[in-house]
Amino acid sequence: MVMAKVIAHRGGASWVPENTLAAFRWAAKQGCRWIELDISLLGDGTPVIIHDQRLERTTDSQGALADLSQADLERIDAGSWFAPAFRGERIPTLRQLLQLCADLGLGANLELKPNASNVEALVEATARVLEEAEAVGGPWLFSSFEHQALELMAKRLPSIPRGLLYEGIEAGWRDKAAALGAVSLHLDQALIDPAVISQAKAEGLEVFVYTLNDATRAQALFAAGLAGLFTDDPLLFDPAWRRG
Ligand code: G3P
Ligand code: MG
Repeated sequence: MVMAKVIAHRGGASWVPENTLAAFRWAAKQGCRWIELDISLLGDGTPVIIHDQRLERTTDSQGALADLSQADLERIDAGSWFAPAFRGERIPTLRQLLQLCADLGLGANLELKPNASNVEALVEATARVLEEAEAVGGPWLFSSFEHQALELMAKRLPSIPRGLLYEGIEAGWRDKAAALGAVSLHLDQALIDPAVISQAKAEGLEVFVYTLNDATRAQALFAAGLAGLFTDDPLLFDPAWRRG
C-alpha cells in the first residue's frame, strides 16, 4: 500500500481551513492516516505549507509569498477567512508540519509547488528541513506537477518515494515514471480514463486521483483498480478507507 485509500486533501478543505495545522489535526481526529499538502517557498527561502503563490484566497492578508520572510507569518491569519473559530491559525512552516505529523502518526503526500520560486531552491530547502527534522515522522511521499522537482528529489532524497502528478496524462508517462523511479501516478479525477489504471498497474504503478468528493464515482474507480483518492471531505467515504 503506497498511501491510504482516502487521503485528506489539504487536510480536508471542506471542513477546515486548508493547509493549516488545525486542518491536519482535524484529519487525524477523523481517523485519517494520510494527508496531502502543498509546499512553497517564502522569499527568504523558508518552505511553508500553502497552495497559492499569493495570500489573498486563504489568509486575511495580501501579497506574494516571494515578498515574505518567516517573521511575517506571525501577523498573517490563515484561519479566519474560513470561519471565526479558526482565527489565529498560521501558515505552517514545513518544519512545524513534519513535527505535527510525527506527533500524530500521520503520513503525508508532500506536493512540491515551485509557484514563482526556483525549482532547485524549493527542492534543496525541503530536503534540508526533512534531514534536520528532530522528530522521526513519516511515511512521506513527494509529488509534483513540476517533474523536474521529482527528478532533483530522486537524487537528493532517493529513499522517499515519488508520485508523478499530471493534469491530463501525457504520452510518455511510462518512460517518465521509470526514469523518476515513481511508485504512483496522481491524476485529475475529472480527466481520467479508467483504462489507464490497469495500464499503470501493469507497469507496477498505483493510481491516485484528485480531488474526488463523490462516493459513487469513487466506487466505480476503485472497481477499476484505483489505489486511492485525495478528497476535501474524507467523511463521505467508508471510515476504514481513511486508515488504509
Ligand atoms: O496532490 C493532489 C492535488 O492537490 C494536486 O492539485 O492544485 O490541489 O495541489 P492541487
Ligand atoms: Mg496539492
